[in-house]
Amino acid sequence: MKHLRSISELGAEGLSRILKLTESMAEINTRAVPKVPALRGKTVVSLFFEDSTRTRLSFETAAKRLSAETMNFSVSTSSVNKGESLRDTIETITDMGVDAFVVRHKSVGVPWQISQWTNASIVNAGDGAHQHPTQALVDCFTVREALGKQDLSGLNLTIVGDIKHSRVARSNIHAFSMLGANITLVAPPTLLPLNIEHWPVKVSNDLDAVLASTDVLYMLRLQSERMAQGLVPSLHEYSTRYGLDEKRVAALQSSAVVMHPGPMNRGVEMLIDPSDIPNSLIHRQVTNGVSVRMAVLFDLLSVEELS
Ligand code: NCD
Repeated sequence: MKHLRSISELGAEGLSRILKLTESMAEINTRAVPKVPALRGKTVVSLFFEDSTRTRLSFETAAKRLSAETMNFSVSTSSVNKGESLRDTIETITDMGVDAFVVRHKSVGVPWQISQWTNASIVNAGDGAHQHPTQALVDCFTVREALGKQDLSGLNLTIVGDIKHSRVARSNIHAFSMLGANITLVAPPTLLPLNIEHWPVKVSNDLDAVLASTDVLYMLRLQSERMAQGLVPSLHEYSTRYGLDEKRVAALQSSAVVMHPGPMNRGVEMLIDPSDIPNSLIHRQVTNGVSVRMAVLFDLLSVEELS
């Protein structure tokens, strides 16, 4: 695999290969010294044109645990502020000798565009509302780990909230349906994409009606920074209808698990402290984020077997 820009580029075979490799990386992360020489001599650049906490830091940690060199590009202190174009920025960094770009950008398609300008591998860490493939890998791995099974056929995954602006939802719908899950989207009609009838999902506007049959409840952040106009009448109304509170957690089956990609909007979609949710996987998602990104970087860059 040369690039990881979308789940469809990865395909079903790639998805299972990365999930398998993640198990080996998770084992490395339990060692007293969680570091292997696998990517010694390789250089990974983080190019984040949009804010990030966990994705950026987990890629950086992942690269370091595989002994790669890391370069950090901070837009606010770079020549982008002097008007340098994206192409010139990529070509400049490429000239220094890099093996992979981890890119996040507000515009859809930037990872594909960049791959025309460099020979390095490209990992999409989020392009607009389009794709966030490593988050979907994290989530598939975390669900399989929590349920103790590889095959997710028949699993009922409910994704709640701002589907329209969510790259996490798009990548997850693709990945979980490849693993056999049944997916239900719950959102106000204004927060659903226009072409939803072509997606492999069921749609509901009533969260309470689907809780009892949900195995995995996946809450999304209301992405106000991507909203052109007021798509929800009021935050209060949104949280009343789509927020996760104690009563809704109690209405879940005792085996159901709850997920959120972070960052959470407390008081909007999360009306309960995650530590009060019995089966919250939110911390596991963050922890597994490092192992998954190690697996991805290893798969893209390694020339040797894992030791
Ligand atoms: C998400 C993102 O940036 O797409 N966060 C993440 O990577 N964990 C989700 C979000 O911003 O709501």
